[in-house]
Amino acid sequence: MAHFDENAKPFSEKWLDERIGLNTLKRVLNTEYWIPKDINFLWAMGMILAATFGILLISGIFLLMYYKPDTKLAFDSVNHTIMSEVGYGWLWRHIHGVGASIVFLIIYIHMFTGIYYGSYKRGRELIWLSGMGLFVAFSAEAFSGYMLPWGQMSYWAGMVITNLFEGFSPDVAGGIFNFPGFVEWLRGDFVPGDAYLGRFFMLHVLLIPLAIIGLIVLHFGTLRLPHVNNQEGADIDFEKSAALWKEGKRKESKVIPFSPVFLSKDIFVMGVYFILFFYLVFYHFEFAMDPVNFDPADGLKTPAHIYPEWYFLWSYEVLRPFSKDFGLIAFGIAQAAMFFLPFIDRSPNVAPASQRGLFKIWFWVLLVDMIVLTAMGKLPPTNPTFAAIGWTAAVLFLLLGPILFIITKFEKKIEKGA
Ligand code: HEM
Repeated sequence: MAHFDENAKPFSEKWLDERIGLNTLKRVLNTEYWIPKDINFLWAMGMILAATFGILLISGIFLLMYYKPDTKLAFDSVNHTIMSEVGYGWLWRHIHGVGASIVFLIIYIHMFTGIYYGSYKRGRELIWLSGMGLFVAFSAEAFSGYMLPWGQMSYWAGMVITNLFEGFSPDVAGGIFNFPGFVEWLRGDFVPGDAYLGRFFMLHVLLIPLAIIGLIVLHFGTLRLPHVNNQEGADIDFEKSAALWKEGKRKESKVIPFSPVFLSKDIFVMGVYFILFFYLVFYHFEFAMDPVNFDPADGLKTPAHIYPEWYFLWSYEVLRPFSKDFGLIAFGIAQAAMFFLPFIDRSPNVAPASQRGLFKIWFWVLLVDMIVLTAMGKLPPTNPTFAAIGWTAAVLFLLLGPILFIITKFEKKIEKGA
């Protein structure tokens, strides 16, 4: 039977310790969870992502109180009720819209940090795979959320994306990859309508956020044993370094305790981030909202140019320059290559790209190529010069997977000093 001190004041440290093990948590974070010393502000992106997800959840709950998942009411409930009738409704909407856009910028920075420092290798494969799971879940969350205001872009982007689920043309491989009727089943109708909006609403407010929470727990769990990487990719003996820290030899130790040392650094970077975040919310929220989506959905009026939000443009441009069937294959290859990066990279080195010869060039080509794909994806495909640039960037993107395999297979092992 647990022992409780009757004299402990409610909510005092002792009272909380006896009930939820407050001191155990403090002990673990202060003396049992270690972070390498040699990391920079880019290692704060993970916590920034977790915090931004929290903000999306809270702002989403406020929007949910007035949003109506009905094709006749949805547009007005967002653009009229929430924006001008509910006190501070506009603020929650701007926070939610800016958060949804910025979270992808931070995800991409977080991913490219991992790629640059080789943080998906040597025992960290599951961190990468669970991270990619989060990327897919966030993409589905953003797409389903984009349907909810029921504007022109919600409707038509939804139409284009759900059409992809028809599969390949009936004449490919005897039609086994063509799924007649599947798109209608997915939509619950021949075109996006009430059933469609209802199911995307459910996905957006319940099923996908639950999956994201589960995946974040998994992602954090996969970090626990391999520990986070560091700027030099050094293979740290955490126990030895932690012992040095505890003995007071802090200079010699290669690690710092999670709390309060690492946490205070993280909170500082987060503070800077939130200043920028709220600057965007108050002064530049419009970058996160497409003007076309301020026209109500109209199934009889196709917009002149349909494109997704900026964070999907690179994958859209991998699909768009090709015929429908080849485009689907290209898209599949591009997504799979990102997922299996830890297994495509054959190099034995965990080191920053700057020390890895050809990999350094590969890394910068990948980054620039994705920026070019993003820029081209936004432009209408009618201009032949831009179409040619888009095609070249898409082909290059597809080749980057096999190129990585080859160059890393022959990468020399870097001899590191003790
Ligand atoms: C969107 C939600 C995500 C959250 C909340 C999150 C959270 C975190 C946190 C807290 C860390 C440890 C500190 C740091 O390096 O920042 C981390 C590390 C890591 N994450 Fe994520 N992450 C997310 C998405 C992703 C994605 C999309 C990827 C890539 C596919 C990814 C790959 C990694 C890798 C490789 C590490 C290890 C970094 C290292 O060892 O240095 N994460 N994540």
